[in-house]
Amino acid sequence: MPNHLGEYYERVSDYDLEYQGQSEQDIPFWRELVMRYTPRRVLELACGSGRISLELLHGPGDFLLEGLDIAPEMLDAYRRKLAREPEAVQRRVILHEADMCDYELAHKGQFDLIFLPFNSVAHLYEIEQQLATFKNTYDHLAEYGRFVVDIFLPDIDYLSDALNRPSQVYLEDEIAAPGDKFTMLLYTTRKYDTIEQLQHITWVHEKFYEEGENERYLTMLDLHMFFPRELQLLFLAAGFGIEAIYGGYDWQPLGRGTRQIVVGRKRPSVRGL
Ligand SMILES: C[S@@+](CC[C@H](N)C(=O)[O-])C[C@H]1O[C@@H](n2cnc3c(N)ncnc32)[C@H](O)[C@@H]1O
Repeated sequence: MPNHLGEYYERVSDYDLEYQGQSEQDIPFWRELVMRYTPRRVLELACGSGRISLELLHGPGDFLLEGLDIAPEMLDAYRRKLAREPEAVQRRVILHEADMCDYELAHKGQFDLIFLPFNSVAHLYEIEQQLATFKNTYDHLAEYGRFVVDIFLPDIDYLSDALNRPSQVYLEDEIAAPGDKFTMLLYTTRKYDTIEQLQHITWVHEKFYEEGENERYLTMLDLHMFFPRELQLLFLAAGFGIEAIYGGYDWQPLGRGTRQIVVGRKRPSVRGL
């Protein structure tokens, strides 16, 4: 069965509305990370509409930034936001429409920080895609450069519900659009495939406009569940040394929070052993 991904990311303004709350949680972490590592050349894989990296451009640091995403709609939204930034900020950014499995950038070997934030690694469904992404990213880093991947920690109770009660409907959120133009309700059903380690999510977005009209649409989204050892093995298989693993955006150790944020470091001599 082909994996579902595309349609969910075609309605970018709904995506931006849905995840504006996420920015309060993860952007301070990425800002602090940039302060600690002081990179010169940064690449965000699966950059989407620029939710994170556009904010990072406002400081600290004056690094050059490249963003890569497979969805043209997301990149168009990123470009529209970038066009509203000062010239000096715009000059620091290059965007690429590409697949993170097989990208090939002019600055290959020159990035000192590549990051793959907010669960996007879960869109790598096959082992071959995962290995290709990690190895290719290794090759795009400068010596001793870092690759940082952020994804949620699989929750066994959640997966058990998805396995045993796939017809259960969850109300995920109720969001008021700016200016009260509409209210958006978000529902999901989830089905878990234990062999493929895939969570199949069906999203229903329902919008109630102030004029009294309403709209509903349905999208499917598949996510690969990464268990901690599996994610770490991917780093090791691609040649990285693991420098740190954090359990949340407050830098606590793995296991104390709901996330797994792995910092891999390029060690040229390790590859192939
Ligand atoms: C959860 S969004 C994250 C976007 C952004 N980083 C953020 O935090 O808002 C996942 C993004 O991954 C992108 N994506 C999925 N598969 C991809 C692939 N194989 N290569 C590049 N981008 C991909 C999608 O188009 C989408 O923009």
